Amino acid sequence: MRIATILAGVALAAATSGTAHAACTAPKAGDELTGAEAQAVYDCLKDSLHAGYQKGKKRWVDAAFVRDYNTWTRASAFPAAPGFHGGRFLVTYVNDIGAEEYLKYKDEDVHIPAGTKIAKESFSINGKGKVTKGPLFLMEKVEKGKSPKTDDWYYTMVSANGAPQAVNVYTACSECHQENYGQQGGLGYPAEDARIQ
Ligand code: HEC
Repeated sequence: MRIATILAGVALAAATSGTAHAACTAPKAGDELTGAEAQAVYDCLKDSLHAGYQKGKKRWVDAAFVRDYNTWTRASAFPAAPGFHGGRFLVTYVNDIGAEEYLKYKDEDVHIPAGTKIAKESFSINGKGKVTKGPLFLMEKVEKGKSPKTDDWYYTMVSANGAPQAVNVYTACSECHQENYGQQGGLGYPAEDARIQ
């Protein structure tokens, strides 16, 4: 009943915005949302989020990665807001090569095969329930020895409007992943209550 009411609210917000990128709004502040409420916002937002990431040239970012990730295995049951990545809500997808190992969420002895690709969508919801699209975060496990400094992870990032973001992947991505999660393969994993087992 409660979820149905929320869904109706989200649908109404989408229908009345009248733009190609319909505004999806939340019924309350982002930090007060339940998982189901965050999921209702995501249901409204996901197509336009995916379309935004695909706009324009991908340059050094793999365009197929950006196009296909949402057909892969989803690792979070609802958009989780763990407080990292700029206080955003996050939805994580893993390709077939890596899904089995990633979805074990192991904290040691992690063996992620080369060819694994992981995508994390993001959006934020402010104190008034206003939704803003965020970047797409990408990680790819490459052949052993190809990038020893990052434990053979390639990191890339695409903004909400599709532009590849030039970041220093060591300081902006890899250092945090390696220093905090090095013992678990460099993986932070979705917030525990959101994990799909
Ligand atoms: C301050 C620490 C920090 C930085 C900096 C950081 N991340 Fe993360 N990242 C995390 C944490 C924590 C998680 C898991 C929890 C979550 O946010 O869902 C994560 C998860 C991810 C995931 C999902 C795979 C996983 O680890 O479970 C991807 C993909 C990702 N980050 C990409 C990036 C990219 C690309 C950058 C640089 C642009 C970056 N991250 C910078 C902390 C960080």
